[in-house]
Amino acid sequence: MLDQFLADTSQLVESAMDRWLPLDQNAYLAPLFESMRYSVFSGGKRLRPALILMVGEALGLSKESMLPAACAMEMIHTYSLIHDDLPAMDNDDLRRGKPTNHKVFGEATAILAGDALLTMAFQAITDSPLPARAVIAMIRELAVASGATGMVGGQVADMLEEGKLGEEERVNFIHQHKTGALIRAAVLLPGHAAQVDEETMQRLSSYGESIGLAFQIVDDILDVVGDTAILGKTAGVDAKLQKATYPALYGVEVSQQLVRQLTDAAIGVINETHRLNHSKALLIELANFLRDRNH
Ligand code: IPE
Ligand code: IPE
Ligand code: MG
Ligand code: MG
Ligand code: MG
Repeated sequence: MLDQFLADTSQLVESAMDRWLPLDQNAYLAPLFESMRYSVFSGGKRLRPALILMVGEALGLSKESMLPAACAMEMIHTYSLIHDDLPAMDNDDLRRGKPTNHKVFGEATAILAGDALLTMAFQAITDSPLPARAVIAMIRELAVASGATGMVGGQVADMLEEGKLGEEERVNFIHQHKTGALIRAAVLLPGHAAQVDEETMQRLSSYGESIGLAFQIVDDILDVVGDTAILGKTAGVDAKLQKATYPALYGVEVSQQLVRQLTDAAIGVINETHRLNHSKALLIELANFLRDRNH
């Protein structure tokens, strides 16, 4: 059931992104679009778009109505990866199984491709067929989650904590912001779209926070125990850069235990959320899938 949903999401998002990033550009713009397309179409699990479409369906919204928001989210996520890999940041050579964007197109174009994807996201989301009030709420949520007090803030904290021993409070801050914020927003956007009540919004937020934190802890664990060929990105880089991670703080086993607790908490919240319909089962399956993933 989940496999089919993820495959359908990838197909829908990729054909929409193909329309957003047309190849027939003039000579100045062609290298920029080539660079944007390179990172957007190099695979990726499309987890955040899948969450948007899945929570949307659980709230009675069609996949088509949430597709502009799903594309916007994936554009922002892809921009964050391009910039995260830059020499000034994590200095990575491999992403989604291919050389990183700056390795192929140079740093200047990689920076600009990231900028352009971030900006295009806010253009894409305005394509939403939903009522203007709902679209404005989605735009605001996405902006807050991506920006200085969201993902970007987390990335800054991640840099500042490099080489330090770390404390739970700080690692938690980093993870909740650099990764948790966008994942939580993916769960909240359909809530805004369906204009759900405050209590449902709180429950969605709690589900998003739990799977978001678990997601980055698993990412940290896979950096220690994972396989570069399966990950599509180089394993072992966190230790080299002395990143503040859960395995560095607690070891792999305790980190895995935390992931299990967060996953159970996320599933508990979904089970208690009455506003969600039959798609509940999928949201539970997704939480388990994210716990057990190997890439
Ligand atoms: C990687 O995200 C970066 C993190 C926030 C941990 P994903 O693991 O979702 O990357 P893709 O999209 O599948 O490549
Ligand atoms: C990345 O964290 C978070 C963002 C891209 C915002 P990481 O630096 O751990 O992600 P990977 O491991 O390079 O994918
Ligand atoms: Mg990083
Ligand atoms: Mg990185
Ligand atoms: Mg990582």
